[in-house]
Amino acid sequence: MGLFKKFVSQTRKPEGFLGKLMVGSMNGGHAKLADWGMSHLDGITATCIAELGCGGGRNASELLKRYPQAKLTAMDYSGVSVEKAKGTNKAFIAAGRCTVLQGNVASLPFADKAFDLATAFETVYFWPSLERCFAEVCRVLQPGGTFVICNESDGTDETALKFEKIIDGMKCYTAEQLTTSLKAVGFSDVRTDHHPSKPWITVLARK
Ligand SMILES: C[S@@+](CC[C@H](N)C(=O)[O-])C[C@H]1O[C@@H](n2cnc3c(N)ncnc32)[C@H](O)[C@@H]1O
Repeated sequence: MGLFKKFVSQTRKPEGFLGKLMVGSMNGGHAKLADWGMSHLDGITATCIAELGCGGGRNASELLKRYPQAKLTAMDYSGVSVEKAKGTNKAFIAAGRCTVLQGNVASLPFADKAFDLATAFETVYFWPSLERCFAEVCRVLQPGGTFVICNESDGTDETALKFEKIIDGMKCYTAEQLTTSLKAVGFSDVRTDHHPSKPWITVLARK
């Protein structure tokens, strides 16, 4: 495997030295996209948040700042991501507001209806079976809870489709495909937004 493929493949599951480099760059590299995605949270209340595929944990921090009364569980199946997210959220962990866990979205280690907000930034491309994972998210959300997906690919842009060919197991989805899968597992109200000038999408699904 060439070095470029090896490095960009770290976005799927950061591991080892290259994974550490990748996770370090993701916190800054995805900040603008994530902040745009979070701007859709205006008017949505949350007290118990699951940040899924949390990577380096920057978005967990931002959510905890946005919701000062909330507690948050950040989860990722990469040990490298979990360690970085723990470092990023050290103060919130010490304050008892943040927990960082290693686990797979395909089988969430949480009770039914445990959260009122679940978020997924730049991660659903890699989830093993979209509907199985979405069903898990639906299970752990309270009725009326919200699931937010934010992707820098709208499933049609050339750059992402190029990466889809390079990174094994990556799949870029359109907002319509995500909507269909979300509704199939029980989300009722699904709204989507496309950035005016970039191929970024945010999907909000209410249970
Ligand atoms: C491109 S990174 C995005 C990280 C972070 N959300 C961000 O926006 O910077 C994708 C992350 O999703 C995680 N991930 C992918 N599939 C996962 C799964 N099935 N369960 C848990 N984490 C997963 C990867 O380990 C990686 O840390």
